[in-house]
Amino acid sequence: MSSSYPIVDIHTHMYPPSYIRLLSSRSTVPYIHQPSEDPNADPRLIILASDDDPARPKSARGRPVDGTYSSFDQKRQFMQAHGITCSVISLANPWLDFLDPESALPTAQEINDDLDKACAENNAQPSGLKLYAFGCLPLSAPSQDIVQEIHRLKTLANVKGVIMGTTGLGQGLDDPALDEIFAALAATNTLVFLHPHYGLPDSAFGGQETIAKSGHVLPLALGFPLETTIAVSRMYLAGVFDRHPQLQFLLAHSGGTLPFLAGRIESCVAHEREFIANGGHRQGPKRSIWEVLHSNLYLDAVIYGQPGLKAAIEAAGSVDRVMFGTDHPFFPPLGDDKNSKWLSVESNISAIDGCFPQNEEAQRKILGGNAVRVLGLDL
Ligand code: URA
Ligand code: ZN
Repeated sequence: MSSSYPIVDIHTHMYPPSYIRLLSSRSTVPYIHQPSEDPNADPRLIILASDDDPARPKSARGRPVDGTYSSFDQKRQFMQAHGITCSVISLANPWLDFLDPESALPTAQEINDDLDKACAENNAQPSGLKLYAFGCLPLSAPSQDIVQEIHRLKTLANVKGVIMGTTGLGQGLDDPALDEIFAALAATNTLVFLHPHYGLPDSAFGGQETIAKSGHVLPLALGFPLETTIAVSRMYLAGVFDRHPQLQFLLAHSGGTLPFLAGRIESCVAHEREFIANGGHRQGPKRSIWEVLHSNLYLDAVIYGQPGLKAAIEAAGSVDRVMFGTDHPFFPPLGDDKNSKWLSVESNISAIDGCFPQNEEAQRKILGGNAVRVLGLDL
């Protein structure tokens, strides 16, 4: 793909070298394992609980982790191969969720500084390729540390928001203890890129043995999007968007199944007798889920097919609230040809093309224009 307008990838991960060192120093999930029997073999990345299957040797658990996860050169090669002119990189899951409270803030500061510096170095080069970043938050640290880092991130020129998972401080995103954090995010106009990691309990898929029969398919195709859907629905039901009307979230994987289920959520809320609005005694959400979708939520376009993308655009209320992404370096081609186009990227691009065959303006918005506007990118 080559185009006369910016192509911005807002869903593209990096494990910067400092984070690779952190994972390599661990032996429980999340960790990186270097098989000792074959020092030339790629290390293994074991980040999902279902990856750490005791029935397999460690050298066969998880997935191989090569330079695409941490090399900025390889990120640029990937961008060039797919016509991407700007990437907003983010730490991949599970971010810093597993750190103890004492090390969380200094680790977040180190990684955020690394990301900002790498973007600055890249942007000083004449290649024409731009890098920006979503920072990470020390969510296991005391609240004042988290708020401090939210404010500090605004001083890093290349950081354009934050990425976080669905557990928040450990109890989910409807936890009232998060109000202080959400207030800081809203006050600093910080976009939150919400990304899944934990999926659903193994039992939802018939247990680890059943999951193992199809590798990552069930946790990634179903567990991830359902996790996001549940997390945002819980926020909505707990009135988070009523209390923080300025809060802005970008939902990974086109909002999971939220676009498809929003009408059902709305209907169940309207029929819930417990809620004050319907004669009950509990405070339900004050605003409709559609209003929240149209004013607090953006959706990425990482959905790999036209029906899902159409639903995302329809639920978001406009083509202005959906943004292209790739999920690089996950879902690489499985063959030996390292330079081949990635099916995962091509299917997202053809879904955009297929939804708007005659409408270059709409394509331009999803592929980059919306990200430039919403994130304030200097391209
Ligand atoms: N698998 C992951 O663990 N994370 C992603 O972002 C995509 C696939
Ligand atoms: Zn991702």
